[in-house]
Amino acid sequence: MMATARDQQAAVEPGTAADAAAVERLSRASFDPRFREAWSAGQIARALADPGVFLLVVRGGPGELLGFALTRALAGEAELLLCAVLPAHRRSGLASALVAAAMAEARRMGARRMFLEVRESNGAARSLYRSLGFEPVGTRPFYYRSVAGEVANAITLSRSLA
Ligand SMILES: CC(C)(COP(=O)(O)OP(=O)(O)OC[C@H]1O[C@@H](n2cnc3c(N)ncnc32)[C@H](O)[C@@H]1OP(=O)(O)O)[C@@H](O)C(=O)NCCC(=O)NCCS
Repeated sequence: MMATARDQQAAVEPGTAADAAAVERLSRASFDPRFREAWSAGQIARALADPGVFLLVVRGGPGELLGFALTRALAGEAELLLCAVLPAHRRSGLASALVAAAMAEARRMGARRMFLEVRESNGAARSLYRSLGFEPVGTRPFYYRSVAGEVANAITLSRSLA
């Protein structure tokens, strides 16, 4: 029987700006294109040059990522900026492992609380974050606008890292 990521403990490792193009490819294959949530390789590389920003990845084959999480931990607070898993590798615990590792690293860097924003209509992500102990702390109305002009609210989620 084939072992799943859950059995194997997904191999989460640090990524670098050299992974930015692979993160862009994975993002394009993962995010709902209507809401333009994917970042370009340039945006990812620039974010990684900012203070407190770090990338965690799960690697597939050479030059291929199965999942990633981009996080900023600064001045005692952390923000999960972006997280995605390739469609064919979902529901095997990769995002849970990536976000858990991001929380641990942010805590190590001195953050006491983590925040993130999720589209209200993104049921998979909302279930993921609920299962990881995040709770809604606010709504940003009409935060997302699709290419076709549909608007969607963002929900701000937060959890303590204590
Ligand atoms: C959201 C996303 C990152 C989840 O990745 P994943 O690796 O499949 O998540 P996990 O396997 O760790 O799921 C953990 C739990 O989250 C919940 N969950 C995840 N996907 C779900 C779905 N499609 N429907 C319902 N619950 C879901 C479940 O409780 C799941 O546990 P279970 O599989 O034991 O039921 C992935 O669907 C994705 O990349 N989506 C597109 C990008 C995106 O929306 N990113 C988040 C933006 S803030």
